[in-house]
Amino acid sequence: MNLKSIPSDERVDFNYKTIDKGHHKVHYRGVLAQRSPFDYVIYQMIISEVMPDLIIEIGTNFGGGALYMADLLNNLNNGVVHSIDITDNCPEIVKSHPRINLFHKGFEGYSLELVRPFNKILVIEDASHTYEDTLGAITKFKDVVTKNSYLIVEDGIVDKLGASKLFNGGPCKAIREFLPDNPDFIVDRKWCDFFGKNATNNVNGFLKRIA
Ligand SMILES: C[S@@+](CC[C@H](N)C(=O)[O-])C[C@H]1O[C@@H](n2cnc3c(N)ncnc32)[C@H](O)[C@@H]1O
Repeated sequence: MNLKSIPSDERVDFNYKTIDKGHHKVHYRGVLAQRSPFDYVIYQMIISEVMPDLIIEIGTNFGGGALYMADLLNNLNNGVVHSIDITDNCPEIVKSHPRINLFHKGFEGYSLELVRPFNKILVIEDASHTYEDTLGAITKFKDVVTKNSYLIVEDGIVDKLGASKLFNGGPCKAIREFLPDNPDFIVDRKWCDFFGKNATNNVNGFLKRIA
């Protein structure tokens, strides 16, 4: 079919930049929850596959992501979210959720003793996205990730968006340095490439613990 014959309002035209622009506006139950649409779908599949009894989210912001995951856990009738930030921006709907615990002393101030009662732990790093903080956080939390669960490193997409300098190399640089020293983790291409090669904000960021 000749392209010119397609009416202009039926044109399909989007890419990672338009998706990035849209993801900044996403709300969940009225709370800002900036995550790519691909990652919402991938997260719910990972959560129902792993069935974690603890999700540690590093970087809460307004808590929309924590709320989304806590509701997913509620549907599965299992698990809680520990969400960690350096600020306290969350509305009541997040603060009062029975499956969400909020911590405000940064990833640096979170005591790993708190994970002791849990058996299946999933960790999501979604804080400042600087290379240093990303590597610092994943290095601190790697050992609490249980076998066959995930250490998800958010927002390596900053490279593709031309912004990695702002983050001193950003999450992808941190992942590149982390992996050779941590053979217990592999990049799970099943999720990174689910919708196309790294069609996610978490470029090479779905790290599966295999041992
Ligand atoms: C991208 S936002 C998190 C978005 C959130 N996960 C969501 O789904 O809506 C990044 C957050 O990381 C927080 N942050 C920055 N440095 C941090 C640190 N050292 N420890 C924990 N959180 C930090 C910022 O305050 C900010 O709220």
